[in-house]
Amino acid sequence: PPTTPPLGTSLLSSFADCRKQLEEGNLAVLPTETVYGLAANGLSHSAVKKIFRLKGRPTVNPVILHVQNIQRALEYAEVCEQALKLAKYFWPGPLTLLLKKKEIVPGIVTANLNTVGLRSPSNETFQAMLNCLDFPLAAPSANPSNRTSPTTASQVVDFFGIDCPPVLDDGPANLGIESTILDLTSSTPCVVRPGHISAGLIGECLDLEVKTSKKFHDIESPEQISPGSAQLHYAPLTPTLLHSSQESCLNYKAFSNSDLLLLPDATKNQNFKGLACSIDYLSKDGDLKEIAHSIYRKLHEADRAKFSKLHLCLLDEKDELALAINDRITRACGKK
Ligand code: TXA
Ligand code: MG
Repeated sequence: PPTTPPLGTSLLSSFADCRKQLEEGNLAVLPTETVYGLAANGLSHSAVKKIFRLKGRPTVNPVILHVQNIQRALEYAEVCEQALKLAKYFWPGPLTLLLKKKEIVPGIVTANLNTVGLRSPSNETFQAMLNCLDFPLAAPSANPSNRTSPTTASQVVDFFGIDCPPVLDDGPANLGIESTILDLTSSTPCVVRPGHISAGLIGECLDLEVKTSKKFHDIESPEQISPGSAQLHYAPLTPTLLHSSQESCLNYKAFSNSDLLLLPDATKNQNFKGLACSIDYLSKDGDLKEIAHSIYRKLHEADRAKFSKLHLCLLDEKDELALAINDRITRACGKK
């Protein structure tokens, strides 16, 4: 495990320092509107290799390239009509497009696939950094492989300790779960990781029906479309138990006082008061945006508080954002 930095040492850094590190082929942690990213020069094999090394990420799992805008995307991928339309609508924003890659993108970025994931984040600090650099930024979420994605700078420092690259702190991430990933390389566009931008919205923009890959949700499926969609992703350290709904927890008899129950909706708290465990809420009133915003922070807090078990509940999938949150919750409860 990483050692804690000496007391009084701040790993938070200035914009100029992060820029310098990136230009010298080193890593920097940057804010995005979804989660904090561990960034490096996306055109440099040796810089990107540092990402994989620090995260302990298998090299078969490709990373996303972050660009200012669709004009810059043209340098790195074959941009189809649909991609142009979507970028116009949703960029900058939490939508990653999988496209045919161009030669210039190093194989380490794409795990030697012939596709590349491109996204233009809306965080202004991230955009300002891209504007200073003459290369795109490869950036996965800034967590060790298989751990919960960070939505604050301090979570990143906690994760990597003394090995932490400079972190540019921009407060809590606005959205809180990772970008939607849309595969545009097969015959019909398909969402392979659900997120804030729903298949429905994408479909409206393209004027066709867009599906969310069932494979992505089939966590037992051995072959996954998105290589990083293995079940262990997003897991906290605390053992977790998944309940099928907030209400179904009431029938569970084995809560202990060292357990934490994370309930989605604080307005529905009446019946839970008598349970033997600690209780916390992901939202005041079940608002999905608020739940998405808080889920990773609450998982990090639960880890830090060292509960013996963490109980999570699936949401009613009345909305595509609920589907995206359930996807993350299910993974958080994956096999250890
Ligand atoms: O919101 C986000 O997308 C954040 C911020 C930092 O931008 N990034 C992020 O990156 O979540 P990461 O590496 O944690 O997740 C990216 C996912 C992985 O599951 C990876 O397998 C998939 O995208 N991916 C990347 N390039 C791909 C490609 N060419 N083909 C298929 N899947 C790809
Ligand atoms: Mg990740």
